[in-house]
Amino acid sequence: MTTRVSTGIPKLDSLLEGGLLESTVTMITGGTGTGKTIMCLQFIWEGLQKGEPCVYLSLEEDAEEIKADARMFGWDLEKYEKKGLFRIMFHDPFETDVSSVLVNQIEYIKAKRLAVDSISMLGLYMKDQATVRKQLGKLMKAVKNAGCTSLVTSEIMEDSKALSRFGVEEFVVDGVIILNYLGIGDEANRSIQIRKMRRTAHGKDIYPFRINEKGIDIVGGSESLKIK
Ligand SMILES: Nc1ncnc2c1ncn2[C@@H]1O[C@H](COP(=O)(O)OP(=O)(O)O)[C@@H](O)[C@H]1O
Ligand SMILES: [Mg+2]
Repeated sequence: MTTRVSTGIPKLDSLLEGGLLESTVTMITGGTGTGKTIMCLQFIWEGLQKGEPCVYLSLEEDAEEIKADARMFGWDLEKYEKKGLFRIMFHDPFETDVSSVLVNQIEYIKAKRLAVDSISMLGLYMKDQATVRKQLGKLMKAVKNAGCTSLVTSEIMEDSKALSRFGVEEFVVDGVIILNYLGIGDEANRSIQIRKMRRTAHGKDIYPFRINEKGIDIVGGSESLKIK
């Protein structure tokens, strides 16, 4: 049986046969300011609304900054934190063995959803690509075994044609979603593309999206979003 997990972006779900496959890891990749953090927050918020325990591991912004980002969209994460349904952690990968802390937290609250923002930060302290691939692979396997559906972000350089920072991350995940922003103007200049999604007949186009007071919204009617 395949269970689909809503991303929190209805039109994206419809491009994914209903959502992400349960217990899979999807990487969101893009340059700075493309909406990766907002997409993670929207996914987590969706889970919390459904009563699902969620974990957010931030490796760049501290927890207060992330919660402030979410509040801008009316997503009061603190409320769920107090209820024990949500855990947010900020760690410096140079100082902490992030993987074991993460798995402990997931098991502790029996998390159904996880966001790791960004996995590029995890790779920075590893000595070569082979180590990055091996360590990330191990981590991904652990979170999947714990029954978590995960979004992880990867920050790529402006104008980079690569899918990820180290060129190996895309191989250890089940799906890759690319966010783009031309950096001028608004909606027409942001786009989203599903580059890979295992076991899913997904939309293959590049779809424009906008960020508004409710978060990410894919532009266009259902006709233009039909899977071709
Ligand atoms: N309320 C809002 N309305 C419109 N755009 C917004 C709003 N909040 C943030 N943004 C846009 O989102 C960008 C930040 O998105 P973010 O998810 O933090 O990017 P990333 O994590 O990819 O670096 C901002 O630079 C801004 O362009
Ligand atoms: Mg970010």
